[in-house]
Parts: sequence; C-alpha cells; structure tokens
Amino acid sequence: MAMLNNAPRDSFGSKIGVIAAAAGSAVGLGNIWRFPYVAGENGGGAFLLIYLGFILAIGFPVMLAELTIGRRAQLNALGSFKKLAPGKPWYLVGLMGIVAAFLILAFYSTIAGWTLEYLVQAIGNGFSGKSSDALKESFETFQSGSFRPLLWQVIFMFMTGYIVYSGVKKGIEKYAKILMPILLLLIIVMTIRSVTLPGAEGGLNFLFKPDFSKITWPVILDALGQAAFSLSIGMGTLITYGSYIQKDNPLPNIALQVTAADTLMAILAGVMIFPAVFAFNIDPAEGFGLVFIVLPNIFVQMAGGYFFAILFFTLLAIAALTSTVSVLEVVVAYFSEELNMSRNKATIIGSVGITIVGVFATLSFGPLSDFIIFGKTLFGWFDYLSANVLLPIGALMIVLFVGWFMGKAHVKAEITNEGSLKVKMFPVFLWIVRLLAPIAIAVVFLYGINVLKF
Ligand code: PHE
Repeated sequence: MAMLNNAPRDSFGSKIGVIAAAAGSAVGLGNIWRFPYVAGENGGGAFLLIYLGFILAIGFPVMLAELTIGRRAQLNALGSFKKLAPGKPWYLVGLMGIVAAFLILAFYSTIAGWTLEYLVQAIGNGFSGKSSDALKESFETFQSGSFRPLLWQVIFMFMTGYIVYSGVKKGIEKYAKILMPILLLLIIVMTIRSVTLPGAEGGLNFLFKPDFSKITWPVILDALGQAAFSLSIGMGTLITYGSYIQKDNPLPNIALQVTAADTLMAILAGVMIFPAVFAFNIDPAEGFGLVFIVLPNIFVQMAGGYFFAILFFTLLAIAALTSTVSVLEVVVAYFSEELNMSRNKATIIGSVGITIVGVFATLSFGPLSDFIIFGKTLFGWFDYLSANVLLPIGALMIVLFVGWFMGKAHVKAEITNEGSLKVKMFPVFLWIVRLLAPIAIAVVFLYGINVLKF
C-alpha cells in the first residue's frame, strides 16, 4: 500500500551525489566527537586497531548489504524487508531501525546543539584569553544548564526537519557535495596545528601505540559499536539511501569510497584531538565533553584562531546536519510509505516526536544528571543502547538476511547491476556475510554485554 498519496519517489541525481550524501551521513559527530571520546576512554591505540579491524571485516560488508537491500526493494527500511520477505518477521529488523533512529537522533541533537552554541561563542570571540581550566569550566557551566542547550537542540532539529522537508535531491545531496571537501580541508589544517604543539608526541603515542592490557570484552564491543555508529550501519539509513540510488550506479564502489572517507575522517580527528589533549594536560578519558574542551584550546593558540574557530564549528554543525538528516529520513520514509502520511506530515510528526525524546537526553547533563540507572544517565543509555546494542543486532540481522534469506541470485544481480558489472570479490563478500560477520558480531555482542555488571 506504499506511496498512495505521494509523488513518485525522489532519488539521488548522480553517483558523486550518492557518495557525498552517504559520506555526509557517515561522517559526522561520530567521527569528530564520539570517536575521540570513546577511544580516549578505552585506552587509545589498541582500541583504534580493533576498530579498524571491524570496519574492514564487518563495516564495509554490512554497508554493501544494506545498500543492496534498499536498492533491490526501492522502499523504506521496514517496507524493504516486507517486500523482500513477505509474510516473514524480518520487517521487525526495520522496526528496530526506526526505534534506533529515535534514540540516536535524541542524543545526537543534544551534541549538535552544543556545536551551535560553540559557533556563537566563536563568533563572539568567546575563547580568547581563556586558560585551559577556564575553557573546561565554561563548557561545564554551559552543558549543565537547561535553557540554552534545549534551545539549540530545538533549533538543530528544526534545521534537520527543514532539509528533509525539502526532499532528497535538493536537501542533503546538494549541500553535501559542497561541504564535505571543505570539512576535510579544515580538519587537515587543524591536525597540522595540533601535531606541531609542544608535547604533541604523548598524544600520538596514545593513539598509535597499542597497549593491549586495556582490552576487555566491553572495550571490544565499544569498538564494534563505534564502527557501526560511525558508518551509519545497522539501522536502515543505508537501506533508505540505497533505495534512492539509481540502477546503473555501482554499489560496491560506493560502499568502498564511503567507508574509506569515514575511516580517514575518524583517524584525522584522532590525530587532531589527542596531541592537543596531551599538550594541554587534559584527561583523554574526559568523556562526552572532550572535543568541546580541547578544540577551543587549540584555537586560542593558533594564528588566525578566531577565524578558524568560526569555520570549524560551522562545518562541524554542517557535518552533524548531513548526518541528522539521514537519520530523520529513515523515520520519514517509513511514516510516509508505510503509514500513508504525506511526506510533509511525516517530517513534522517525526521531528517533533524525536525532539521530545531528545529533551531528556539534553537534561541528562543538568537537572536530570542525578537520574542514574545502572551507572548511566539517560543520555548515556541512549548512546550505549543504540550504538552497542541496537546497531550490532541490526547489523547481524542484515548480514544474515543478505547471506541466507534474500537469495544469492537476487543479491548477485543487485550488486553486479544485473550482470553488467564485474565484481570479482563477490564470493568473498558472500563468505563474509554468511559466516565471518555474523559469528564475529554475535561473539563480540554476547561477551561484551555479559561482562556488564547489572
Ligand atoms: N554516522 C553518523 C556519524 O558518525 C551517525 C549516524 C549513525 C548517522 C547512524 C546515521 C545512522 O556522525
């Protein structure tokens, strides 16, 4: 019953547009905010190695699997499963993705809101002359408030809703193409400044010298969760985006380029953050606030820092925006195609619903900071549950679906563009989605949560 009261489905205009949009989804706060803080909490180097292993062995194959499902079915995350496995419970995987989208966007929009606050502070020259301690203190005062963090969160959700409202091609594809290369350039400039700070070696050692004594099952699960989160896999974002990809675009090549871009950005973010962390004597396990304390420290030290601070937070906000749009799109495509709402109504209901959940995430740093369940705030739980539980389970289901249930002929036809594309690695891919990835995810997940002390 899909599409009853909708115009024909929107689609991406070109291959480069697809890559920009999918990389726009993948590259975001996950790379620049989440990766450094999770790596910092988990001891650095060894975590990075395990993370890279997961990207290769699980991340890339899952991304290709998702694009394959979406483009085959030409529907939203839930509708795709219903269409490819009629009458079977696989649609529940899609439903889980919708739930994950709500949780992710709820806490992501908190942090995205912080980037807007920092942009405004940068414009007002708010970091200048402040010591490292003063910068830390002003961050803590800001995040523990209620009015300003909430206001920025609502504004950010409004911007996200606005872009989704304008459609697939005219929203994210258009902006992503211009903004992603600029973001890359800026991170490179910042990275150079950071590694040339006195005392930077400590940070590079921390990031690149693995110390395996830090590795436990929960840390390995964190690495898997971070890999999934950063690549936007396991919840149907790439099923949804895949459904907008034209039939003559090469899916393996797109998945490879997006994975490479995302991984490069995460490593660069690490190389940008950790030398400065050590140079300014900040604790690498500082947690959620890590980048908001470290980056202003670099700007204060940097020639033209005023200017770079503005550019950087603008681009960080935009990187976040191209990601939030992709999460909201999952919900909107589902509401409009499965629940027969107009796209506009779906966007409004989706954004408002998510913002309401998001308020609880934002207040976790202020009025609700004492509301601790099993050692985590609500924000902590949204983050943990989505990245370390829902995305790994979603990824597991997706590889099992493509490996065993979708039918080898269908999978091959979609990946090779009905035979017109040579994909030499297809048998390897099949082997990974059938055995390697499912076993690896299941083992890491089961050991990772068992060790949790409830
Ligand atoms: N990959 C995004 C980031 O790194 C976050 C995201 C997760 C987006 C899941 C979509 C789906 O910032």
